[in-house]
Amino acid sequence: MIFDILTICPQAVKPYFEEGIIKRAQKNKLIEINLRNIRDYTVDKHRVVDDSPYGGGPGMVIKIEPIWKCLQGINNVKLSAKNNKTKIILLSPRGKLFDQSMAKRWSKLDRLVLISGRYEGVDERVADYIADEIVSIGDYILMGGEIAAMAIVETTARLIPGVIGDETKWSQKKIAKSRKKEIKNRIMGFTEFPQYTKPEIFKAGKEGEWKVPPVLLSGNHAKIEEWRKKRIVVIK
Ligand code: ADE
Repeated sequence: MIFDILTICPQAVKPYFEEGIIKRAQKNKLIEINLRNIRDYTVDKHRVVDDSPYGGGPGMVIKIEPIWKCLQGINNVKLSAKNNKTKIILLSPRGKLFDQSMAKRWSKLDRLVLISGRYEGVDERVADYIADEIVSIGDYILMGGEIAAMAIVETTARLIPGVIGDETKWSQKKIAKSRKKEIKNRIMGFTEFPQYTKPEIFKAGKEGEWKVPPVLLSGNHAKIEEWRKKRIVVIK
């Protein structure tokens, strides 16, 4: 699956995708992430990406031209969006709230294009004529859509087969099944139980000794599973 992020500050985003699982997923060609600097698609000498709003008012607005030009540069992505295998998303706090089910749907696409705004906004024609959907990651206002784009790429990428380890998925699924009836309003497919690692006893100075629950050290897998079932954390 290909992700394209259109942004005026690709340098802020780049290092994030150069670490850990997301780096490995790119190396293994499970995903491709293209950071596209909107400024590279300007046509004027000063590479201006924004202008003042028609009708007056504070702030600057990102122009539609470089965004359009950038999208045309990606295999004329607007046309391929018609085949339902590509989606173009405008990131904005006024958009529909991003959630796990959206990520699930998008993880089956060939390409997800994320347009990240800055300043006071993006020329409204991008929403009217270019974007398939407008999406927000939460009811708060960031300085731009870059963090939203990172969250969306990460959430979607981990649902692509092979990106995260199968062991993790397997144990979560098994436990989820056994408690289906009790779990309501939870993020579909998401369960988590408390996890511990070495040392067995953490000596926290005067605070005391903080121990790992003995059942986890018992080697009795039936007991461990029973213990975990009781302690699933349900995220609502
Ligand atoms: N840009 C600014 N705030 C945002 C948000 N909450 N979600 C998506 N894009 C944004």
